[in-house]
Amino acid sequence: MLFTSRLLVAALLQAVLSQAHKEPKSDREIEVQRALQAAAYHCAPTVESFTAARKQSWAQRVLSGNPYLPGYQQLFSAETYTDLPDKPHNADELTTDDDETFMKCTPISDTHIQNNTCVLAPEVTEGPYYHTEGHPIRQNIAELQDGLLLLLDIGVIDVETCQPLPNVLVDIWQANATGSYAGHPFPHAHLINEEPAKEGRRRGLLSAYPRTVHEETWLRGAWPTDKNGVVQFTSIYPGYYTGRATHVHTKVFPEWSVIPENNTFKAGRLAHTGQFFFDEDMNMIVDKMYPYVTNPIKDIRGRTRNWQDSLNIFHDSHGPEGKYNPVFKVHLLGGVVSQGLIAYITMGVNASASYDNWWKG
Ligand SMILES: *[C@@H]1O[C@H](CO)[C@@H](O)[C@H](O)[C@H]1NC(C)=O
Ligand SMILES: *[C@@H]1O[C@H](CO)[C@@H](O)[C@H](O)[C@H]1NC(C)=O
Ligand SMILES: *[C@@H]1O[C@H](CO)[C@@H](O)[C@H](O)[C@H]1NC(C)=O
Ligand SMILES: *[C@@H]1O[C@H](CO)[C@@H](O)[C@H](O)[C@H]1NC(C)=O
Repeated sequence: MLFTSRLLVAALLQAVLSQAHKEPKSDREIEVQRALQAAAYHCAPTVESFTAARKQSWAQRVLSGNPYLPGYQQLFSAETYTDLPDKPHNADELTTDDDETFMKCTPISDTHIQNNTCVLAPEVTEGPYYHTEGHPIRQNIAELQDGLLLLLDIGVIDVETCQPLPNVLVDIWQANATGSYAGHPFPHAHLINEEPAKEGRRRGLLSAYPRTVHEETWLRGAWPTDKNGVVQFTSIYPGYYTGRATHVHTKVFPEWSVIPENNTFKAGRLAHTGQFFFDEDMNMIVDKMYPYVTNPIKDIRGRTRNWQDSLNIFHDSHGPEGKYNPVFKVHLLGGVVSQGLIAYITMGVNASASYDNWWKG
C-alpha cells in the first residue's frame, strides 16, 4: 500500500516535472546556465572544504559557548555525563567555563554537524517584490516580525576560479511568517477575491500585490561577504503565499556602494539572482508552529509544496540538468525546533557576469 502510494507520488511528480519542461527558456538563458554548471562542477571539492571550515568556525564561536543548551542527542547519549578534562582550552577561547560544563555535558563538537556541501548557481526570477532601493545594509533583517529564529550562513564562490568571493554584497528579501512582503501588505481592492491563474505561464499565482507602504523594510537587507566569502544573517523562517514554495530571494552585487545618509546601498553590476528553498520535512514542521498556523490561506489553498512551485522556479533552481541543490541544509540551534535554526548554503556565482533582470512579470 505504502509502496503503491509512493509510486503514485513519484508518477505525479514526474508528470509535474515533465509538464514543467514544456516551457523552455530562451536558448541564450539555457546556454548561460550550462556554462555556469560546467564551471561549478570543478568547484565541488573547494565548496566542500569551504563549508566544512564554516561549520567548524561556527561550532567554535557560537555553539561551544553561552547560550548553548544540550540537544537531545547529548542528553541521551552514553558520553553525556562523563567528566570533562580540566580546562583543556586556552582561557581566551572560553569565557563561560561554567556553561561549558552545564550538566556535565560534553562540549559540542562539529561531529554533530553533517556535510552541507551545496551549490546554488542557476539564475531564476527575482519576482515582483524586489525593491531596487531601500534595502538596508544590516545582518539582522527581522525587525519586529514574529516567527521562528533563522540564522542564514551563505557562502559565495566564483565558479570561474573556485575561490570564495570577499566583499560582494548579498542582498536578501523574503516574506514574513504569514506570507507578506514589507511594503506589499494587502491585496489591492480589485485583487481581494482574485483566484489564482488556472492556466498559462502564471498558473497557480495571484497578481502581484502593489507596493503601498514605502517605508517598510522588514525582512529585507544586504551585507557584504567577509574575507572568507561568507555572509550571515539573522531572520525568521519565511511563511508561504499563494502559488509559491517557501523561499528566500537573493541577489549578489560585486559592485556596490553604501549610501551613508540612509544606510542603504547603490547597486552596481548584478552577478546573480536566485532563490533558496527548504526541505519539505522542515516546512511541514514549521507549518504547525505559531504564527505560521495563522496564515490566511492555510485553509483555502494551503502551502505550495516545492514540487508544485509556480513558474517552475523550484525546478529551475536545480539547473538545466538538475545538478544543483538550492535547498538550505538546516540544523537545530538548540535542543528543540522552537529555539531556532541555522541554514547553510553555498552559491556558485559568476563574478564577472552582468545580468539583466529576467523578471518579465
Ligand atoms: C559531502 O557531500 C558531497 C556531495 O554530496 C559528497 O560528494 C562528499 O563525499 C561528502 N563528503 C563527506 C565527508 O561526507
Ligand atoms: C537613500 O538616499 C539616497 C541618496 O540621497 C536616495 O536616492 C534614496 O532614495 C534613499 N533611499 C531611501 C529608501 O530613503
Ligand atoms: C505579516 O505582514 C502583514 C502585513 O504587514 C501583517 O498583516 C501580518 O500580521 C504579518 N504577519 C505576522 C505573523 O506578523
Ligand atoms: C562569466 O561571465 C562572463 C561575462 O559575461 C562570461 O564571458 C563567462 O563565459 C562567464 N563564465 C561562466 C562560467 O559562465
